[in-house]
Amino acid sequence: MSNLKNLDKSDILSYTEDTPVLMESRKNDHIQICKDKDVESKCDIFSKIRFYPEALPEFNLTDVEMKQSFFGKTFDLPLLITGMTGGVEKGQEINEALAAAAEKYNIPMGLGSQKIMIKDPKYKKLFNVRKVAPNLFIIGNLGAVSLNYGIKLDDIKRLVDDLELNAFALHLNALQESIQPEGERNFANLLSKIELIAKSLQVPLLIKEVGSGMSPSTFQKLVSVGVSGVDIGGKGGTSWGYIEGLRSNKEGQRLGELFKNWGIPTDESLILCSRRNKELGYNIPLVATGGIRNGLHVAKAVAAGATMAGVGLPLFRAAISPEKGETALESVEKEISFFKKSLSIAMFCSGAQKLSELSSRVVREAL
Ligand SMILES: Cc1cc2nc3c(=O)[nH]c(=O)nc-3n(C[C@H](O)[C@H](O)[C@H](O)COP(=O)(O)O)c2cc1C
Repeated sequence: MSNLKNLDKSDILSYTEDTPVLMESRKNDHIQICKDKDVESKCDIFSKIRFYPEALPEFNLTDVEMKQSFFGKTFDLPLLITGMTGGVEKGQEINEALAAAAEKYNIPMGLGSQKIMIKDPKYKKLFNVRKVAPNLFIIGNLGAVSLNYGIKLDDIKRLVDDLELNAFALHLNALQESIQPEGERNFANLLSKIELIAKSLQVPLLIKEVGSGMSPSTFQKLVSVGVSGVDIGGKGGTSWGYIEGLRSNKEGQRLGELFKNWGIPTDESLILCSRRNKELGYNIPLVATGGIRNGLHVAKAVAAGATMAGVGLPLFRAAISPEKGETALESVEKEISFFKKSLSIAMFCSGAQKLSELSSRVVREAL
């Protein structure tokens, strides 16, 4: 499956050097695998959270209010397109379709890691979605571990300026880097580096897991160093350990299988971190990502304490595999429209006219 040419994958635990050629090859692998393979962990998230059905909502379905404030801006839905591709031609097309749709629906959008652009500025055009979405709230992205491999505060500041970013996300992906053939595995002393970025960056800093979930103690550590928001990125959706296994040798594949279902489920991580958020009076915005597949999931995430729900794989697939006769943009818009409609129905049928009323409509919580 992998296009990696010059990489000796005989020992998946020893390789650490990363170059634009390897990065481009890896991004192409990710796109191909996420398009074609069953990459989701098996976990029925949010099944334990149910809403009281309201037979008599006493308002019009069209009057459901789904606006949400996040990082100082008001969006039309509590929905965020989570950071995905970039760094390859195909990634540019996907990002532009996602960006134009996000702008139309007035929701924020994350970009995939810009590490390749730091290494070689010629890749800027692949991330430069501002030209198709002048008003979009754009969140930049890098792996936090890159801070141990030469990426500096000034690199991030430059990305914010060059791509006209409104916020920046650093992802935590220890499992992915552990199994990735060319992974960067030195996670030592990252918290102090995250603190430096949080305190020095001109835009809000979001810290995101990518599928293993966040424990309340990690959440607390991050908040204590001044991050602006946390995406708990739980188990239940795209499994990055498994994907890296598919790019690896036999041992890596076994590791990917073994850890496909690793992590705290999205609902559980969200509930625990939200509780800690309230107990300590932090009031930090939480994003729930990992297996969010419809508006009912979004409603449950908001009821359980999320400000926004992040969606990755379904929107990626909508962009890369539109139906016959449909453009990538139309396909993404159709998918976002489904999220919007199903969220409004979940609110209407549980009698919650506003997002803030959803939590009081929950029958019982998972924990
Ligand atoms: C094709 C693809 C590429 C991704 N690339 C990145 C990335 O560069 N940086 C990042 O933080 N997360 C990346 N992610 C992870 C997502 O942001 C998200 O955390 C994860 O996919 C879980 O959400 P999902 O279950 O809705 O897909 C990527 C996801 C997909 C599907």
